[in-house]
Amino acid sequence: MASYAEFHRRSIQDREGFWAEQAKLIHWHQPCSEVLDYSRPPFARWFVGGETSLCYNALDRHIAARGDQNALVWISTEVGESRTFTYKQLLAEVNRAAAMLQSLGVKKGERVILYLPMIPEACFAILACARLGAVHSVVFGGFAAASLAARIDDARPALMITADGGSRMGKTVLYKSLVDEALKLARHPPQKLLIFKRGLDYAMPVVQGRDLDWKALQKDFANAELACAWLESNEPSYILYTSGTTGQPKGVQRDVGGYAVALAASMRNIFCGEAGETMFTTSDIGWVVGHSYIIYAPLIAGMTTIMYEGVPIRPDAGIWWKIVQDHQVDVMFSAPTAIRVLKKHDPAYLKKYDVSSLKHLFLAGEPLDEPTHVWITESLGRPVIDHYWQTETGWPLLSAQPGVEKTRLKMGSPSFPVYGYDVRLLHEATGQPVPDGEKGVVTIAPPLPPGCMSTVWGDDERFVETYFKDFKDQLIYSTFDWGIRDKDGYYFILGRTDDVINVAGHRLGTREIEEAVSMHPNIAECAVVGVADSLKGQLPLAFAVAKDVSKLSSAEGKRRLEKEVMATVDKHLGAIARPKAVHFVTLLPKTRSGKTLRRSIQALAEGRDPGDLTTIEDPNALEQIKQALHA
Ligand code: PRX
Repeated sequence: MASYAEFHRRSIQDREGFWAEQAKLIHWHQPCSEVLDYSRPPFARWFVGGETSLCYNALDRHIAARGDQNALVWISTEVGESRTFTYKQLLAEVNRAAAMLQSLGVKKGERVILYLPMIPEACFAILACARLGAVHSVVFGGFAAASLAARIDDARPALMITADGGSRMGKTVLYKSLVDEALKLARHPPQKLLIFKRGLDYAMPVVQGRDLDWKALQKDFANAELACAWLESNEPSYILYTSGTTGQPKGVQRDVGGYAVALAASMRNIFCGEAGETMFTTSDIGWVVGHSYIIYAPLIAGMTTIMYEGVPIRPDAGIWWKIVQDHQVDVMFSAPTAIRVLKKHDPAYLKKYDVSSLKHLFLAGEPLDEPTHVWITESLGRPVIDHYWQTETGWPLLSAQPGVEKTRLKMGSPSFPVYGYDVRLLHEATGQPVPDGEKGVVTIAPPLPPGCMSTVWGDDERFVETYFKDFKDQLIYSTFDWGIRDKDGYYFILGRTDDVINVAGHRLGTREIEEAVSMHPNIAECAVVGVADSLKGQLPLAFAVAKDVSKLSSAEGKRRLEKEVMATVDKHLGAIARPKAVHFVTLLPKTRSGKTLRRSIQALAEGRDPGDLTTIEDPNALEQIKQALHA
């Protein structure tokens, strides 16, 4: 086993040699002619000329050695069902789905939007797109019609796939009717909508000529076999939209070869997941963690992946540990909020099940506070690894890498830079490296390693402007996260530098929420900030100026408008973005140049000092914020 430091050093100093070696972990139909083309910074093209397929690497490649091994185990505590697919069976399903998509005119390079609950068909559809060389864009089921419509217009899909419904905490969530609404709002709706009917009992409206039934159509392709489309390594595999500082979501575009190599290498070096073993990732396929670690990485590694539809506390708070015991899970991946939720329940649930099969529990997506890290480590009796990354990177950027070296874990720290990432902590204003123990912005000196986003879908300029221009005079990728490194080289993440907040691991732009709040006809302007929450990490809190204040004279009137504003956010963005409260003020604290002082508002809301207020236009605005919070 090499040492971590040496492994990392080599990955930066001999980039091409290092990644050429890692590239051997996957199957190439055609080897690359050049490991890295960095002739147009900051665009990095990995494994140029190489041809491969994510679907082939996830499925076909394993058929000879492990065709009868379970590939996908689906468990739903929502509908009380489970289904299991061996590699052979999963390949057959994906072939059928791919043939069906092809019959609907889906071709290589075309986009397919998936708005699906956590059902096996979501996995089939994703891999079917990969098989055809089509570009999938999965939209998280919690997003509202307007958000979905914005993504449809940006991706211009040839086809959309949805289900009649999903289920959350035993309640049906209507997917299809939300898609209907989004298709009405979209300017570029696809001609066809494919629907998987789960038989969730409600009168689903059907649009003749547009809506197609998955099960009926699939009958024509029962024994279909379709060769994988080989794609040049840098062709797009998928788009995944994510929130940033502007209201317009960014389509993170991923490649094929670099992504496959990065995931395969991460399974070996970080997650320690081996062929024949089982991985359980509790995320949703609508998020990057679901793409990388429910679907692609475990399958590329020849593992069994568990897909779970349900919440961690139903039927009781032992359900995840029961799954670990029953399926002898080797690698588990979850998020800090889920652990904080479990912490509130009887710890006996953890002792009730045998979790000794677990090598590690990995947690990511939001800051893991030290007490929670300590609690889960002690309760589980297994190493718990905090690791840090983003939709943009596609795989971990800071993490312990136990497959390389079993370094000591520090509670509350995602350990060290991962191989391939040249991480620098820079001073916010000067752009100079900060000394150990001082807070800086976490940045990556380009080229970004394989697997990271290739560009913003359809907008190369936005990619460069958004991510590489945070510091004047240097082309460097900003994560927009604050970090600090201690004297032993361990990193700690301290939150975002921009207007992005993290609610229970869901990344949301406060600007997006502000836009949604402002959709209410009686709102003139507003400011939304993230405030600390002991369970969910952060929650949005809104301060709004009403156009017509006559209705706000009574507490009842305020409550009514607050409810209406919340409903507006639900409608335009989704309930995940709903502010925990809407406070009404008559003006917002702004600088003399008109910039809202969000950091000051946030500080007040969290009971901290509001900081430097020399630029404030009207100090009375802050007084109003204080009073509103006090009331
Ligand atoms: O702010 C950081 C936070 O989540 C952001 C990325 O969110 P998303 O694009 O949804 O990707 C999640 C992939 C796991 C980051 O910019 N974040 C993620 N992991 C951590 C974290 N903050 C602190 N500690 C972490 N381990």
